Amino acid sequence: MASSTKSSAYTAKFTLNNGTIMPAIGLGTYRMRTGDVIMRVVDWALAAGYRMFDTAAVYGNEIHLGAAFKTLLPKYELERDDIFVTTKLSPSDYGNKEIVESAYTKSLDNLGLDYVDLYLIHFPGASKIPATDLNNKRLRDVTWQALTELYDDGRVNAIGVSNFTVSHLEQLMLNNHGVIPAVNQVEWHPYYYQESLLNYCKQNDILLQAYCSFGGTSASNMALMHDPVVQKIARTLNVTCAQVLLAWALQQDVAVIPKTTSQVHLKDNISLNFTIPNEEMKALNALGGLKIKYAWDPTAVV
Ligand SMILES: NC(=O)c1ccc[n+]([C@@H]2O[C@H](COP(=O)([O-])OP(=O)(O)OC[C@H]3O[C@@H](n4cnc5c(N)ncnc54)[C@H](OP(=O)(O)O)[C@@H]3O)[C@@H](O)[C@H]2O)c1
Repeated sequence: MASSTKSSAYTAKFTLNNGTIMPAIGLGTYRMRTGDVIMRVVDWALAAGYRMFDTAAVYGNEIHLGAAFKTLLPKYELERDDIFVTTKLSPSDYGNKEIVESAYTKSLDNLGLDYVDLYLIHFPGASKIPATDLNNKRLRDVTWQALTELYDDGRVNAIGVSNFTVSHLEQLMLNNHGVIPAVNQVEWHPYYYQESLLNYCKQNDILLQAYCSFGGTSASNMALMHDPVVQKIARTLNVTCAQVLLAWALQQDVAVIPKTTSQVHLKDNISLNFTIPNEEMKALNALGGLKIKYAWDPTAVV
């Protein structure tokens, strides 16, 4: 499908529950592994208007992002606080403050930053512990407490979680150590529409942030992009299928972090100044009955 004619950058922002301002659209960087690619893509992204970048310790690319920020922020006359950086604590580093602080410091060193804007627990289950092992529950609690201590010490602007189900959030909220997660980053696209999670997060002032907006992490998996409902809406609105899928999330107050290494797609994904009408939103929501999940599944983690 042709690129959209609507090309101005979408600059909407969300205010997180502690007052931190976060761009509604960020650049996902999963599987962007080399320094060359990251330097090129971050350069294009900053030029296109992206101000938010999503990474994780397990992506192994924090160091390349750090190098890109060091070179490119001056090029665009930007300061550190003009960008919003999210990283995530690896499931192999769950534990008390000492363990979490050491992992956080390593991420900061890699990124060449003295704070990140948002630090997330990557997954409800810890590495090398079976999903059904109750130690997951205990470790989540200890780890969340450690994140709240980093936050209370002023070392990170906001903290949150990722891949948490309603049940994981309910457990956390029973003893949240004084901080409600600002964000829950989850798989979110019309084939995996989780209305109860959205409602729970809205009721508790937790912002949902979508990943896998296009239905999977592989360019070879185009089922959702090729879905007739998505295609018809894209044709009617004269936008791309990717734009429909991102706007669908944003219109539900769900933030997005599409990943791309293509300059055309980068521009497409931040050019979202159109509205999907209610009937079409309902048609997209109705695809959720399919319950197709692409990424790792947290539902079995106790
Ligand atoms: N918290 C978690 O557990 C978790 C899990 C997965 C991902 N994430 C985060 O979320 C980000 C996004 O998720 P994702 O990378 O899995 O998937 P995604 O952003 O939904 O999709 C990426 C795929 O879509 C293609 N694409 C991007 N824009 C396009 C466009 N406008 N038109 C057509 N194709 C397009 C990309 O190919 P090209 O590069 O060729 O454009 C890439 O193959 C990740 O990068 C990561 O930062 C978090």
